[in-house]
Amino acid sequence: MTNLIGVLYIIAFALFIYGLMGLTGPRTAVRGNWIAATGMGIAVVATLLTPGMSNWVLIALGIVLGALVGVPAARRVKMTAMPQMVALFNGVGGGAVALIAWVEFRTTGGYAAEPLYVAIASLFAALIGSISFWGSLIAFGKLQEILPGRPITLRQLQQPANIVLLLVAIAAAVAIIAGSDAEILMIVVLLAAAVLGVMVVLPIGGADMPVVISLLNACTGLSAAAMGLALDNTALIVAGMIVGASGSILTNLMAKAMNRSIPAIAAGGFGGTTALPSGTKEARPVRSTTAADTAIQMAYATNIVVVPGYGMAVAQAQHAVREMAQLLEAKGISVAYAIHPVAGRMPGHMNVLLAEADVPYEQLKEMDEINSEFPQTDVALVIGANDVTNPAARTDPGSPIYGMPILDVSASRSVIVLKRSMSSGFAGIDNDLFYEPRTSMLFGDAKSSVGEIVEELKNL
Ligand code: TAP
Repeated sequence: MTNLIGVLYIIAFALFIYGLMGLTGPRTAVRGNWIAATGMGIAVVATLLTPGMSNWVLIALGIVLGALVGVPAARRVKMTAMPQMVALFNGVGGGAVALIAWVEFRTTGGYAAEPLYVAIASLFAALIGSISFWGSLIAFGKLQEILPGRPITLRQLQQPANIVLLLVAIAAAVAIIAGSDAEILMIVVLLAAAVLGVMVVLPIGGADMPVVISLLNACTGLSAAAMGLALDNTALIVAGMIVGASGSILTNLMAKAMNRSIPAIAAGGFGGTTALPSGTKEARPVRSTTAADTAIQMAYATNIVVVPGYGMAVAQAQHAVREMAQLLEAKGISVAYAIHPVAGRMPGHMNVLLAEADVPYEQLKEMDEINSEFPQTDVALVIGANDVTNPAARTDPGSPIYGMPILDVSASRSVIVLKRSMSSGFAGIDNDLFYEPRTSMLFGDAKSSVGEIVEELKNL
């Protein structure tokens, strides 16, 4: 039986890694997801084959309840609500790890007869798992707008309070490692970590949540790997390390694409507001245009670059955009899509939306590739994007987004921006692009505006 379990685990790991490779491109992503899910199914079966497994009714009940909650939730979730869904799913992983560490504490009498490494790994898993669960719940609450998205802090007391909580949790863990089997100590570890998780995430603005979720995801992975070490379960170690490593890489990539450091994100106080900074240039004149003029301008263009952003996701304009592009292509006009790595609110947000609308993958150009093409572009059609096009990232060292790589839309012959108002985007700052002489604003909900352009194009 042990050999069979070992073989099943190896098959599961191979499927995890192969599935993960599939997630590197939209074409193979769905298949990759299925492959990794199959791997997880095999790992679950292998674990259930472990000798000494009992409580079958409880296990079956857990699986049925989990499926009853998880499957409909995942089916019904809207693309825009995906980050909070990931936060919840990730959080329960961390919570499960923390509970397993607690159960192990009880069944082993405070890890008394266990080797030292088991106690250390279990307590690490309990601490990080609990932080991850509670932190993820707060992230979910902020994104779901159950909690205010703005940063909530204790100001100067924030850091000392966090340090005290961490020290309390570590002190209780050290006491357990030193030989105490008092359950209250385990509860102190879990509770101090819970409050710490809440306190660490509350000061972070709602819009920074995807980065935080990715960071918490990495934490869940690490805690699962530590628990796997304690339980001598290879599947948990491998799966946990894959989640930990990929979560860390993703967090790093996101932070880099926003030109912010992870400690700066964790320190909070950024995003979640829409206030313009002092000295706002709101009063400057802007040129507004109509759907009819936009359609005419585009119909006479040779090449057009669509620059999608968060507003396209909010308006769910992707299908209308695809229809518009098809009409333009039928007129012999070339259409490409400029994809900024942090456009929207989650990694690959624009790729997913455009793939959902069957936009050919070849037309999606990454920032580095498309930036050199803007000087030859007749019309850059910015649909609900703001920060990712803001020239202040290059020109204003005082700007919070200074240093963030941007899409160089101002280099195009003409720029048309579709948004509802002059409101700022995620970073809460004004965008000079909107006031440039080559820029026209088409005000309105992106889906309605694109719909109107489509109607005009049909009549041309
Ligand atoms: P943003 O800068 O957030 O701007 C989005 C714009 O969309 C807003 O200015 C808004 O203007 C407009 N909008 C909203 N609803 C709309 C609708 N229904 N129709 C038309 N327009 C609408 O978006 P972006 O350019 O995609 O930049 C993303 C930002 O999020 C970056 O600052 C990035 O650092 C940050 N961020 C990204 C991620 C990831 S992983 N993607 C994670 C965390 C943070 P109106 O209100 O005037 O319409």
